Amino acid sequence: MKRLFKNIGILAGVAPAGVLRKQGAEMSDAGIIEDAWLLTDGSRIAAFGNASVPCPDAGETVDCEGGMLMPAFCDSHTHIVYAGSRDGEFLDKINGLSYEQIAARGGGILNSSDLLHQTSEDDLYRQSVARAREMMAKGTAAMEIKSGYGLNPQDELKMLRVIKRIRESVPALVRTTFLGAHAVGRGYTKEQYVQAVIDMLPQAAEYADYVDVFCDEGFFTVSDTARILAAAAPLALRPKIHANELAASGGVQVGVAHGALSVDHLERAGEAEIEALRGSATMPTMLPGSSFFLGIPYAKAREFIAAGLGISLASDYNPGSSPSGDMRFVMALGCIKMRLTPAQAFNAVTINGAYAMGVSDVTGSITAGKRADLILTFPGWTLTKLPYTYQTPFIRQVFAAGEKI
Ligand code: NIG
Ligand code: FE
Repeated sequence: MKRLFKNIGILAGVAPAGVLRKQGAEMSDAGIIEDAWLLTDGSRIAAFGNASVPCPDAGETVDCEGGMLMPAFCDSHTHIVYAGSRDGEFLDKINGLSYEQIAARGGGILNSSDLLHQTSEDDLYRQSVARAREMMAKGTAAMEIKSGYGLNPQDELKMLRVIKRIRESVPALVRTTFLGAHAVGRGYTKEQYVQAVIDMLPQAAEYADYVDVFCDEGFFTVSDTARILAAAAPLALRPKIHANELAASGGVQVGVAHGALSVDHLERAGEAEIEALRGSATMPTMLPGSSFFLGIPYAKAREFIAAGLGISLASDYNPGSSPSGDMRFVMALGCIKMRLTPAQAFNAVTINGAYAMGVSDVTGSITAGKRADLILTFPGWTLTKLPYTYQTPFIRQVFAAGEKI
């Protein structure tokens, strides 16, 4: 079915075909057309233009009444498949314990792993797909989902099957990442567990697009990470790495050396990491929701952009460090706390987020032929107002592959 959006006040995120990411000064270009129309044909964007260009007829017409139409958010880093919650640890955190202290007491990722072990696959699916739907209602139409709370072969596979079920049951575009190396599973030494993760790779590769390692102080070292990534390469599992959240871990460098699609977190990254990223195909991905929730520094986004790099922003939706998948709030944190301009933050949550999960050829911008992954706002909204009045409802309708959410 063809659908015509007319009376669009601001069409944002217009990009020529072939633009897969934005870097440096390009991040300031939000691709705006004022007074526009846009035509979708089934699941795809067919055409668009300024109101001075005659628009075609369509089966359904949506009068946008001057609202903004923009690409839906692309959230390239989430852990939404988890069981229960960690609200007990929320109290520990309020009482002054750090993320590392909570983890050292057997809380943190291991706590989620125990809960997941006790939860049936059906129940895990029900809890997790609800989070995917929550994200979609808030404007996300492409999301990456990681394993990493199984921490043994059976439970990691359980998670990967649940992600597959989500992928098949929602209209959002889902990419899957195997994060066996999220923490050392119970009953293993670190050495044994790194080997177990390597042994899990062939089966994980049947489900996953990418491989991730939590390369950080107290978790996995650069040499653990290099071993896992080397074993993943022949299986065509490209790396997306958790790096430099808790310390200057070397995670960025090892990720870039192994051709990572993205290196994520970067709260403790500076000149050396920027140097390592220069000229690479790796997208630095920043997760301000975890800086906000954990009270740790924000990544130095402006320094990366000033060095000519692109950055993407993602939610990191998970029960321990960022219990929210609200990409509009992520955009607001990008502007308020990292001092990105609204245009830079917008590119970071759309086209560059799509790049960081390997889907920017099919979504993340207003480009003919791409998926009709769209957010229509109420009248009067602008890119600046999204992060500025950051809690006022702005979504009139979300579309994922042309389907109303
Ligand atoms: O990205 N840093 C490692 N992993 C997650 C947190 C997972 C958890 O605490 O459950 C993150 O912040
Ligand atoms: Fe994460």
